[in-house]
Amino acid sequence: MTVQIRPATCGDGPAIARISRQAFCEAIAQDSPRVQGILREELTFVATIANEVLGFVDNFLTRSAQDEARFELDLLAVAPAARGRGIGGRLVSHSLARARQSAARELRTLVAADNLTMQGICKKHHFTRSDVSYRLYVAEPRPPGAEAGADHGGHLVQVDTLAYSGIWLEGAISQAVVEAGFARAARAGSSRVGAVISRADRETAALLRACRFEAIGEYHWWTISL
Ligand SMILES: CC(C)(COP(=O)(O)OP(=O)(O)OC[C@H]1O[C@@H](n2cnc3c(N)ncnc32)[C@H](O)[C@@H]1OP(=O)(O)O)[C@@H](O)C(=O)NCCC(=O)NCCS
Repeated sequence: MTVQIRPATCGDGPAIARISRQAFCEAIAQDSPRVQGILREELTFVATIANEVLGFVDNFLTRSAQDEARFELDLLAVAPAARGRGIGGRLVSHSLARARQSAARELRTLVAADNLTMQGICKKHHFTRSDVSYRLYVAEPRPPGAEAGADHGGHLVQVDTLAYSGIWLEGAISQAVVEAGFARAARAGSSRVGAVISRADRETAALLRACRFEAIGEYHWWTISL
């Protein structure tokens, strides 16, 4: 049977939520206005066989500190029984084609260092792996200790993904950037504040741990110019 790839619709919410639970143990609030809004943006794609949704990929655009558009390939998952049949690869190919039609000049995806399957897919699509390995730090938003001014020197990226709404801290991360991130999260009603930092950056790691961020795994950025 042929695999079809198409933009997700609001009606795909339950299937996407089920596959996400199976793949990541990550709950997707399928009926929330945030998820429904994302599903209307035509950047999330589903893979179907005979109209049954067997996989999905969630993409969105962000802007770098240099104000360049980036295409973020975020969540990719295939139902366990349907894996190894090329569906994940097809969803990545489709995302890449869509990225090439966007304003972004780069597509990137954060891949766990032990996720050999996803790394295989990235290599097959000629993505380049970062030389540096990274750690992901996340925290639940809390009231900021002190309101930081706008000149904190970091870059705050507000994101709405299928799994969460969040603030990513980028650039040189200082206490002021963390406070600004918490302040922005409080204003935006975000559920997560996150930062991806080099494993070698012990100083920032210590700062984030002191601010009650939790380290989650080891990752590489995989990127491709568009
Ligand atoms: C990653 C995932 C989406 C891949 O979906 P899939 O439909 O099985 O992917 P494909 O069949 O297109 O490709 C799998 C490829 O990885 C290869 N592969 C599988 N296990 C592998 C391993 N341990 N080491 C290296 N390559 C591996 C397969 O041989 C295949 O390569 P091929 O196309 O050359 O044959 C799926 O495994 C999944 O949902 N995993 C859990 C969620 C996840 O990790 N998502 C990615 C990060 S967000």
